[in-house]
Amino acid sequence: MKALLLCGGEGTRLRPFTYTQPKALLPLGHQPILFHILDTLAGAGLREAAIIIGPNGEPIVTLLRQTNRWDFRFTFIPQPQPLGLAHTVLIAREVLGDEPFLMYLGDNLLEEPLRPLLDRFTQEKPDALLLLRPVKNPRHFGVARIDGSRVIRVEEKPAQPTSNLALAGIYLFSPAIHQAVRAIKPSRRGELEITDAIQWLIESRKTVTYHLITGWWKDTGTVDDLLTANQYVLKKMASAVHGEVKKTQVNGVLAVKKGALLKNCLVKGPVSIGAGCRISGSVLGPYLSVGDGVEITNCCLSRSLVFPNAQLKGVTLTDSILGERVRVSGAGRKEKAYSLLIGADGILNL
Ligand code: TTP
Repeated sequence: MKALLLCGGEGTRLRPFTYTQPKALLPLGHQPILFHILDTLAGAGLREAAIIIGPNGEPIVTLLRQTNRWDFRFTFIPQPQPLGLAHTVLIAREVLGDEPFLMYLGDNLLEEPLRPLLDRFTQEKPDALLLLRPVKNPRHFGVARIDGSRVIRVEEKPAQPTSNLALAGIYLFSPAIHQAVRAIKPSRRGELEITDAIQWLIESRKTVTYHLITGWWKDTGTVDDLLTANQYVLKKMASAVHGEVKKTQVNGVLAVKKGALLKNCLVKGPVSIGAGCRISGSVLGPYLSVGDGVEITNCCLSRSLVFPNAQLKGVTLTDSILGERVRVSGAGRKEKAYSLLIGADGILNL
């Protein structure tokens, strides 16, 4: 089965980080979001993916051409504007052909394996199988109403939701979806909504079934989502120290890539440290991911993402995201932690 992987979109809620790279390439733990997704797809036995890329998507093409450890056959489909999830099905028509496919949003992470769902879909042959998840705030999601084993209504971000079941960004479709995406009109926000296409399937008496997600699922649309997703990813990580760790107390899981040096630190895992980092005199973690080539001196950092080649000195930070080559300095470790979001190349003296 082919996957349609959606990595277009502007990622406006994750600015300034998405000004310099597509959302799918933002790092979580030791690798980009996209690599976590490809691990999931490859784990389900998929080997072919059509990837939707937006105007800032060239780095995705470059990276996947350099690194294809899954042995995937990629086809890249440019989407000049984010005209909606159903629009991506429209423009992928030829590549997808007349076969069923898995549609996967490029900012979604799923804990449970996909293989059993693909098998169920192949056996039962519905026209759509939706992954659903109870949420506290259904008004922010596409929402599904179910009756027994069927989905009987779907609505995009309803003002008055009739259920708490949100559509996760993972769907299995039969070729009937192609007729549906051609039949619908853009919504009030100007997008071709996949929920409208699914509702069209329901009204056309096609079979729309669902699966309730049991493990965690995370849509990484906002800063807090990204930090929470990082937490999930780090919780699953195993210890692997390939760099040097000197005079450092390590509690919990620590992963250190090649060429990194940690000296005189206290690690409260899980913590992931990139290649070639220089870190000393610091308290690290829990839930800290540090990219390659970062320098950290005399800091206290928890629940944060530090992108490659940043330099941090004498600061106490939590719930922070620091872009590539950011430089932050302060007067030393403090009781009170700051929470900072700084885009690439930002410089801050606290
Ligand atoms: P969204 O989170 O709805 O949109 P976005 O990523 O542009 O973010 P924001 O709302 O902050 O501006 O999109 C979900 C996923 O689907 C994301 O991985 C991007 C992708 N997508 C496309 O590929 N094409 C589209 O037309 C849209 C709307 C989304």
